Amino acid sequence: MQSNEVIDATERFVAELHGNDHTGHDVAHLERVRRLAEVLSDGLAVNRLVVTLAALLHDVEDRKLGREAGLVKRHLDSLDVSDALRRHVLDVISETSYSKGSAPSSLEAAIIQDADRLDAMGAIGIARTFQYAGASGTALYGESSAISHFHEKLLRLLDGMHTEEAKRIARARHTFLLTFLERFEAEWNGSDI
Ligand code: ADP
Ligand code: NI
Repeated sequence: MQSNEVIDATERFVAELHGNDHTGHDVAHLERVRRLAEVLSDGLAVNRLVVTLAALLHDVEDRKLGREAGLVKRHLDSLDVSDALRRHVLDVISETSYSKGSAPSSLEAAIIQDADRLDAMGAIGIARTFQYAGASGTALYGESSAISHFHEKLLRLLDGMHTEEAKRIARARHTFLLTFLERFEAEWNGSDI
């Protein structure tokens, strides 16, 4: 099977699974992670097919989406690809999750972690946080809220970036998170009135 056929089949597979998502894991998130991961791969010795497949498949079994385990493996088994490639993609995906806190064991895993985390920062990261909060019935402010999520996760992402290019992009996105939070707090407290 040619690489482009493997990618086409995977695009169709994720379009089906993520097509109706309104929790911050829609197909546009997968495409942004893919584009970011491709940029982060430039000039580095990585397996591009592994990067592309892992970007598209990284959220298929996300716990929050309540999916059964083994979906990704079954999809990969349906493709005519080598066992080594299958194993590598599965390893990268299992190391992507922020909450698991795994250290990446390959450059491909580091790139996918960076790309996924960059998409949780900046203006898009803010939008996804409120989309997720709305979909999951999470409060705007206070304990275990959308705003507390900034402190619990979003503001910590900058320090965990692996590649130099991701650090550069993350710095601007981090600054924007801080600007947004400052303004939000001011309006919440009425100190801007
Ligand atoms: P990903 O693996 O793509 O980063 P997650 O499943 O961790 O996605 O979360 C999807 C989006 O929802 C992200 O932008 C994330 O920051 C946000 N999110 C996750 N958990 C919460 C939460 N408890 N409250 C608000 N937003 C959240
Ligand atoms: Ni993701």
